Order: sequence, then C-alpha cells, then structure tokens
Amino acid sequence: MKLLVTGGAGFIGSAVVRQAVGQGHEVVNLDALTYAACLDNVASVADSPLYSFEQVDIRDAVAVEACIARHAPDAIMHLAAESHVDRSIDGPGVFVETNVMGTYNMLQSARALWERQGKPEGFRFHHISTDEVFGSLPNDPSVQFTEDTPYDPRSPYSASKASSDHLVRAWHETYGLPIVLTNCSNNYGPYHFPEKLIPVIILNALAGKPLPIYGDGSNIRDWLYVEDHADALLTVLAKGQVGRSYNIGGENERTNLELVQTLCSILDKLSPRADAKAYADQITFVTDRPGHDARYAIDPTRIRTELGWRPSVTVEQGLEKTVQWYLDNETWWRALQNRAGVGQRLGTKA
Ligand SMILES: NC(=O)c1ccc[n+]([C@@H]2O[C@H](COP(=O)([O-])OP(=O)(O)OC[C@H]3O[C@@H](n4cnc5c(N)ncnc54)[C@H](O)[C@@H]3O)[C@@H](O)[C@H]2O)c1
Repeated sequence: MKLLVTGGAGFIGSAVVRQAVGQGHEVVNLDALTYAACLDNVASVADSPLYSFEQVDIRDAVAVEACIARHAPDAIMHLAAESHVDRSIDGPGVFVETNVMGTYNMLQSARALWERQGKPEGFRFHHISTDEVFGSLPNDPSVQFTEDTPYDPRSPYSASKASSDHLVRAWHETYGLPIVLTNCSNNYGPYHFPEKLIPVIILNALAGKPLPIYGDGSNIRDWLYVEDHADALLTVLAKGQVGRSYNIGGENERTNLELVQTLCSILDKLSPRADAKAYADQITFVTDRPGHDARYAIDPTRIRTELGWRPSVTVEQGLEKTVQWYLDNETWWRALQNRAGVGQRLGTKA
C-alpha cells in the first residue's frame, strides 16, 4: 500500500513511518519541519527505496494539492499538527491555522484525488486525534471516555483538534470520503520532543535540575507507549470500519506525581546519582497550567473487541525502555534542547 503520512518527522508520525516501512508499505512523509520536527527520527528508514520525504506546509493549500496529486496515495494518515498545550495557551493562532485549516486543506485535496480516481472503496483518510477533545473527567474509575462521549475541549490545542475531528466526520457524511478517526491518550517513548513531561523529567533529573510538577501532581493521564500507538494506528487503517472512530488507550492511568516517582525509581536503578541520593529529591511543585484538565481515561473496549488490539507493554516496562533510550541517545536530545522555547516554562499567560 502507498501511504502518505503527515507529520512523519514528529514524535508519533515518525514511529508510524518506521513501522509502516518495516511492514513493506511505500511511505511518503509530508512534513513542514517545524520546531518540533527532527528528520533523525526517521534516519533508520531514510535510505529505503520505500521511503520519500516532502517538505510541505499543510497550511499551503496549493502545495498540499500538488503533493497529494503527484503521489496519489492509497491512504493518508494525518498526524501533522501543533501539539503542545502550553504553546497553545501562549499562541493559539498557529494551532487554528495548522490543526483546523491545515486539516481542511488535507481533506479537500484527499477528496479531489479520491473523486478523480472514481471513488475507490479502499481509499482511507485516517485522522489521528487526541482524547483531550472529550474534556476532563472526575476522579472516578467507573467513568471513562468512550467513542460516544460528547466533545468538551478546554484548551486551544484540544479545541483545534476537536474542530478538525468535526471537519473529518463532515467530509465523510457530506461527500462520502472514506475516513477513519482515532482518539488516543498521552503517548511517551523514544524520540519524544524534550518539551513534554516525560523527557523533561528524565533530562532535568540527569542534569541535576528541579523536576517540575504542575499543581499538586494529582492530574491523571492514561499513558501509551508510542510504538504501541503506531501499531494501533496501522491496525485501524487496515481493519477499521469506514466512518468509525476508535479510542486508543494504554490501560495505564497514573497521576502525574506517580508517573514522575516511577521515572525517578527507574533512573535510580539505571543511572544512579553521583551522591547516591534519590532523584525524587529533585521533585518541585510549580504553578499549575491554566485550565489543567483533571483526568483523562480511555475505555478501549471498541478497539479491543472489534479489532483485537491491546497495548503490548505496561507503563513500567515502557518507561524503563524510554529512560534507557534517552540514556543511549544523548546526541539526539542535546541538539533539540537549543530550539526556541525548550527548557522554558510556557503557557502561563492566560
Ligand atoms: N503526543 C501525544 O501524546 C498525542 C496523543 C494523542 C494524539 N496526538 C496527535 O498525534 C499527532 C502527532 O503528535 P506528536 O506528539 O507526534 O506531535 P509532534 O509535535 O511531535 O509532531 C508534529 C509534526 O507535525 C509537523 N507539522 C506541524 N505543523 C505542520 C504544518 N503546518 N505542516 C506540515 N507539518 C506540520 C511538525 O513538523 C512535526 O514533525 C498530532 O495530531 C496530535 O494531536 C498526540
């Protein structure tokens, strides 16, 4: 199959690109190479005859149309987005431009290609979204996000993703475009850009810096290893029902404080501090993020029962692999720490 993957130089998109090429798919990686991108993430497949790269900004409708027409993919996996909630608080405009208008441009060009080709049944537009569109849950294990949970986004990032989800559904209902949609919980793993919680904690710990926890650390997230997410996405692409959405979760709910404490214990084991003290001593509580959602939790029943998919690792196993990866890949993360805004507290301007 010929796949066009947008955002393939980012964290999750690059995992999709690596796995898809590994499965024998031809892959066109379309990415604007924003501050969050790194082509080293796909270095392992860059020399494959199955792989090609196109530097295209999805806000540029003409460039998107030309690229999609030239490659005529069998399926599009749309991951390109502005993805950092804190940045969306300080500068929401680019989130609307990329996540909403960019998705509109992708849909229009995908639809034009699909119609020119005589509306092949096998074509897919797979939109990759987040569980953050569903809003915030109370701390009650009996309540989780299902595919029928009403949308209630609360940050500029989640509102822009929710808008893009609505456009994708509308293009299916109105024009018949064969779409599938996925809403996933928080990812972590190798190649995670060093402004997100887990890499920040690992890298600050190793540098002897404070480990910042927003508020009291009681916010709950459901953590999924990125390679498992990429596997789930390729499963939904191959077996998902057209017009349907699938929630993807790790079945690994943890408070942020528990998560950081687990990371500290793994670091104590894999890379002990020179003074033999515990990394947990570096934990510091900082002012909370404005509008910080209390809890996200995915009910994964649909993807498990209909598509037979489950995550392959627990959060403890995935975090240990992740910490080891950061210990082994200092050249990768050192280069990214110089990029604008990385290492600074963002998202306090609300
Ligand atoms: N990270 C998570 O925990 C998570 C969870 C669920 C869903 N998602 C969704 O998955 C997708 C990928 O997330 P990620 O964490 O890998 O993001 P990321 O920020 O690591 O990567 C985003 C990629 O998109 C590219 N991009 C941004 N703007 C672009 C534009 N205008 N044109 C073309 N390319 C552009 C960037 O260059 C980058 O390579 C996003 O749609 C996000 O909403 C993320």
